[in-house]
Amino acid sequence: MKDGIGIDTIATYIADTAAEIERELAGALPASWDIPASLRAAADYSLMAGGKRLRPILVIAAAEALGGSKMAAMPVACAIEMVHTYSLIHDDLPAMDNDDFRRGKPTNHKVYGEAMAILAGDGLLTHAFFAIARAFRESGLPAERGLAIVEELAVRAGFAGMVGGQAADMLGEQGITRPEELEFIHLHKTADLIVFSLRAGGHIAGANEAQLAALETFGRCIGLAFQIQDDILDLVGDEIKLGKPVKSDERQKKVTYPYLIGLETSREKVRKLTQEATDAIAAAGFREPRRLLELAGYLVNRDR
Ligand code: IPE
Ligand code: IPE
Ligand code: MG
Ligand code: MG
Ligand code: MG
Repeated sequence: MKDGIGIDTIATYIADTAAEIERELAGALPASWDIPASLRAAADYSLMAGGKRLRPILVIAAAEALGGSKMAAMPVACAIEMVHTYSLIHDDLPAMDNDDFRRGKPTNHKVYGEAMAILAGDGLLTHAFFAIARAFRESGLPAERGLAIVEELAVRAGFAGMVGGQAADMLGEQGITRPEELEFIHLHKTADLIVFSLRAGGHIAGANEAQLAALETFGRCIGLAFQIQDDILDLVGDEIKLGKPVKSDERQKKVTYPYLIGLETSREKVRKLTQEATDAIAAAGFREPRRLLELAGYLVNRDR
């Protein structure tokens, strides 16, 4: 779909970019590698199950905003989708959220069993680092940019990042009473991979410190808003559109934003954070900020 002046709308940009990402992901595990068939099948099953591909799209959009190319950003885009997919496989396990559907299909452990699901997740996490290292070796981009990306991924996906946030989420079940505690969980379990995606796109394009800081503020705000919206949709969303069960948080007795501050105040917070995010980008003087700004606006109204 084109807008009045013939430029692709954000919906088309998302659909086209997601399709390209999926073509790349389909070949992510080298066919020549000798991998036990059910492990390969389990990894491919979740990686190719669909999903919005938001994080890889953000890597690409951030790189493009600063004059970098989609081609240069693609390997890191695929790598963050591998890490995200691993986090979902593990998040759905009986020991965590114990969910049966994801991306419109039975969850990984329902199809391949818990052992293969755990190992498929482990493999996807590890492969992400391989994919980044290999891409930088072959790309001709400065190796320091690759090192910065690897280091930041290890921090944002690891103990002080997504894994730490997931741990706090599990430990905090029922016991959370203060918004700051919930913000810690959401910032780490969800916003950190989104911040990583944006900064990684910046690194690929050779961003300076001020530009990276603007991308980080943008990512922190839309990342927090994204998880609040996820909590809202868990409560009032449509299971078919979402491709995952609703009321999962209630079943697991999770304290969420709607639970803590109410549905309307949560919605208002999503809008305020989105404004803060777009203000940070608008003030940063990027060459081509349009897609980032449009993506933020698009996410406010998402229903999946
Ligand atoms: C779900 O992420 C987990 C959260 C961090 C909220 P997404 O909503 O991006 O899931 P997919 O990738 O589209 O399946
Ligand atoms: C998940 O949060 C965050 C990660 C997977 C890191 P949720 O548990 O709310 O995500 P969904 O709702 O199952 O997708
Ligand atoms: Mg969870
Ligand atoms: Mg969950
Ligand atoms: Mg959720």
